[in-house]
Amino acid sequence: MSQADDHAGSRRDFLYYATAGAGVVATGAAVLPLVNQMNPSADTRALASIYVDVTNVAVGSQLTVKWRGKPVFIRRRTAAEIEAARAVPGDDSVLIDKNAENHNKPGADASDQNRTLDEAGEWLVMMGVCTHLGCVPLGNGAGDFGGWFCPCHGSHYDTAGRIRKGPAPRNLEVPIAQFTDETTILLG
Ligand code: FES
Repeated sequence: MSQADDHAGSRRDFLYYATAGAGVVATGAAVLPLVNQMNPSADTRALASIYVDVTNVAVGSQLTVKWRGKPVFIRRRTAAEIEAARAVPGDDSVLIDKNAENHNKPGADASDQNRTLDEAGEWLVMMGVCTHLGCVPLGNGAGDFGGWFCPCHGSHYDTAGRIRKGPAPRNLEVPIAQFTDETTILLG
């Protein structure tokens, strides 16, 4: 490897880790802060909720928004992704973490129905933070289970964001979230 290549590699690594810390904001995402604009305290800012317009999120695509300083993945799953996720029950022995890790359903098992935002399972909202050491996993069918893959140390997540292989100990965290109308998700 030439010195130039070596330098490029180091730079890519740096950018990757920087992205993991700073989160990613997708273009085209309409994110409307709810924060009191007058003079929010640090506490208020930390607890801020945001509305996300998901009108333009097509089936089989993912929107990434930044919330509370971290990336949040909003994926609109395909029928095949839903089917694959629902074929694995929440207490199945293949699951490393049998907890849904869903702040909307504390203590629930890791069945796909306990992970998704809607009952049909089209919408999956998760923190884009690997539960190993906090890198941002790659999506769009990445990894051995067609979900997300964290290249930092090789963690594979399935189409429900559940950890299936690698060093990460827990499923990707599902934050407090709800639909406020057909095309708007409120985070927090
Ligand atoms: S931070 Fe994701 S595998 Fe280590």
